[in-house]
Amino acid sequence: MSNVIQQFDLSGKIAIVTGAGFGLGRVFAETLAEAGASVIVTDRDGPGADETASLIEAAGGKATAMTVDVADPAAIEAMAAEIAKDHGGAQILVNNAGITCRSTRLHEMPVEDWNEVLAINLSGVFLCTRAMIPQMLDAGSGSIINISSILGLVGHYPDFAMANICYSATKAGVIGLTRQTAAEYAADNIRVNAIAPGWHGGTRLGDVNRSSMNNDMISKFEDAVLDGTPMKRRGVPDELAGLLLYLASDASSYMTGQVIANDGGWTGI
Ligand SMILES: NC(=O)c1ccc[n+]([C@@H]2O[C@H](COP(=O)([O-])OP(=O)(O)OC[C@H]3O[C@@H](n4cnc5c(N)ncnc54)[C@H](O)[C@@H]3O)[C@@H](O)[C@H]2O)c1
Repeated sequence: MSNVIQQFDLSGKIAIVTGAGFGLGRVFAETLAEAGASVIVTDRDGPGADETASLIEAAGGKATAMTVDVADPAAIEAMAAEIAKDHGGAQILVNNAGITCRSTRLHEMPVEDWNEVLAINLSGVFLCTRAMIPQMLDAGSGSIINISSILGLVGHYPDFAMANICYSATKAGVIGLTRQTAAEYAADNIRVNAIAPGWHGGTRLGDVNRSSMNNDMISKFEDAVLDGTPMKRRGVPDELAGLLLYLASDASSYMTGQVIANDGGWTGI
């Protein structure tokens, strides 16, 4: 009989999480460390990355903080080189760093916002994956988890802008990137899957919109979120931890190219 609990053990693995200085990325980094991985906590917000690494160490885990902007190709190459030198390479990559911009309809969207969101949410995933795959090929195995969104699967417009074209297009792009990367590296034992979270609270992602909304707009927005969510509540970041660990570990050893929504029923019912 196989020991199923052992399949989730990440002892001896090196994992990187991008955008791990706050929000979902912090939860992902803490989860991987709790399962035994040594975690490289990266974020463009250096103090945030330091804080996550300190929290992991205080809980008895292993972590190294690095300040890295995923939109900066040179910084990503330097990150990969440092991980190869100091840790002998990584086997787990969580492409989590992401932003949104102020929501408008497409014809009013500033081109600068489109370019910025594209650079971080889509090019950032490409660049980090490109830099880290050679280490996984050397190791003979790898697991890459890309953080997409339900807004990469379906559009949403209740009667005002609460999502936007930059975010949705990049999150759909992450799904294409996931499937093609999975196809290219399946025979190398490098698995690539995506998580599409629904509306999870307790992070800063929506701050760019909330700061320009009055109380009435915020409550309309929250009503629209709850209306579209069959479970009638937002998720909390910890509710993504089990899925992330499943995809990172040998528990999902025969799964690649998949996109899993964790959304209280938004896309599934
Ligand atoms: N919170 C949700 O409900 C939700 C839903 C679907 C998808 N997501 C996705 O989950 C991921 C995390 O979102 P969150 O809600 O935790 O947001 P957040 O804003 O709370 O955290 C994002 C983190 O990424 C970092 N970051 C931003 N740009 C970066 C860059 N260029 N380089 C490196 N780090 C960068 C930020 O400093 C921050 O620490 C994002 O990809 C987001 O699109 C979140």
